[in-house]
Amino acid sequence: MSKGKDYAKYFDFSQAKVISEDENGKKIRLSGREIYIMSEPNQRKEKQRGKQDIQVHYEEAVPETLRELGKGKRYIIYTFGCQMNEHDSETMSGLLEQMGYEKTEDRKEADIILLNTCAIRENAEDKVFGELGHLKTLKLERPGLILGVCGCMSQEENVVNRIMSKHQFVDIIFGTHNIHRLPFLVRDALFNKEMVVDVWSKEGDIIENLPKKRAGMRGWVNIMYGCDKFCTYCIVPYTRGKERSRLPEDVIAEVRELARQGYKEITLLGQNVNAYGKDFADRTYTFGHLMDEIRTINLPRIRFTTSHPRDFDDHLIEVLAKQGNLVEHIHLPVQSGSSEVLKKMSRKYTREHYIQLVHKIKAAIPNVSLTTDIIVGFPGETDEHFEETMSLMREVEFEQAFTFIYSPREGTPAAQMEDNVPMEVKKERLHRLNALMKDFSRKGNEKLLGETVEVLVESESKNNELVLSGRTRTNRLVHFTGSKELIGQFVHVQVTDIKSFYIKGELVTEKMQMSS
Ligand code: SAH
Ligand code: SF4
Ligand code: F3S
Repeated sequence: MSKGKDYAKYFDFSQAKVISEDENGKKIRLSGREIYIMSEPNQRKEKQRGKQDIQVHYEEAVPETLRELGKGKRYIIYTFGCQMNEHDSETMSGLLEQMGYEKTEDRKEADIILLNTCAIRENAEDKVFGELGHLKTLKLERPGLILGVCGCMSQEENVVNRIMSKHQFVDIIFGTHNIHRLPFLVRDALFNKEMVVDVWSKEGDIIENLPKKRAGMRGWVNIMYGCDKFCTYCIVPYTRGKERSRLPEDVIAEVRELARQGYKEITLLGQNVNAYGKDFADRTYTFGHLMDEIRTINLPRIRFTTSHPRDFDDHLIEVLAKQGNLVEHIHLPVQSGSSEVLKKMSRKYTREHYIQLVHKIKAAIPNVSLTTDIIVGFPGETDEHFEETMSLMREVEFEQAFTFIYSPREGTPAAQMEDNVPMEVKKERLHRLNALMKDFSRKGNEKLLGETVEVLVESESKNNELVLSGRTRTNRLVHFTGSKELIGQFVHVQVTDIKSFYIKGELVTEKMQMSS
């Protein structure tokens, strides 16, 4: 059973006294702490998929009256989880900076600290509660510090209840659907003493024109929000709401603007990018159409994540095969090699369908690099099922895989299934899978020995400042010696040595002109 269930005991509503109510919410007192609840998460509502139209808003996010509020003050955001969260943190940074706040690396001098959290597996949640423990000491030393919890965990009832009753030093809790409300919540926290909770259960409209503070020359661009797939193990459809696509003209305008600003690489983001456009009234404009338009923009590398195998259509393959600035790397999570397990996961494709799709992609894009996500130890996974995952890995020859031990998430259908694979077995399966993956990753690298690859230089290497690191079009990590002026540029590197998870090489050209 999910450990999450135990958290319900932290919150006994009979203890909570409603002190006052107004049109925006109610104020309660719980163990001495006053909490103003504007809205709370509710998993039942998060599950519903309504038919109402999604509106798009273009108003300014930070009103004039709030633009001086953060002057002379500093902020830190700690981000957990996927690229979606990383990018949301860029939006929050953008909002805070428009309020006058400046970024700091030193938590001791921060006036506001936000934890942008991830709920995907239990260990992700444990990390956040661990961090909250550390921040409590800081908050006791500096009561003026504003502490906020946001992101996917905030969309979970049990988490919000646990924070309200056991981590009362937190000042703001808000969710993934109302990030644009951050300036107002910060204002409220500054002027009132109570904890403010504002977590929308229903996904709201699409808010355009939010300021974004991107770092480096690689940019993320949301093309859609939410997920309607409801894989039985996954919390994301509850924490991120229903699928909503941004209008193509808004996505394209943002990509053009990034190209104008000199960005070298962008990654289009969605939980299931292949479902792009399925929520539009006429349903004729798909992800393939969007990619076909974006590839004409003068921006050297276009990536996307994540693709669901089910909606990967032939038109998309045709467009990706045109390559150019569309890189030959597809992250295509398979989760399991067993059709039986896939069925229980409600992935809605079979092993055969997946393999057939891979063949089609490889035929159209012979130099493609495929990577994947795999879960081991799903309820009912037998040794035979697991061997099917191993054999699928061999058959497809993935160049990289992110592998996870199944973690039950409260409120998901799989959490009701008997979690009957012992932890030692799960660990042993993960270990074997990772060993196989390491071999394949190395083999993929071996193919490149002696070749010259195009590298976008990202940074000095972590361990040696004379060494630079960057990525190939297929997202392989490359280390080579060079001067740091090359950071942010494209170079050619000849591969001289390979390791399992990175490549070593020598600089061939100093700089390349990219016309995409
Ligand atoms: N939208 C993406 C994945 C989002 S989550 C997709 O569908 O491909 C990233 C990965 O986390 C998933 O692909 C899955 O492998 C893993 N994951 C999700 N829920 C999990 C759970 N309950 N336990 C273990 N791994 C999980
Ligand atoms: Fe989760 Fe499945 Fe949606 Fe991916 S497609 S976010 S795994 S429910
Ligand atoms: Fe985690 Fe939410 Fe992403 S649960 S993986 S941060 S969508």
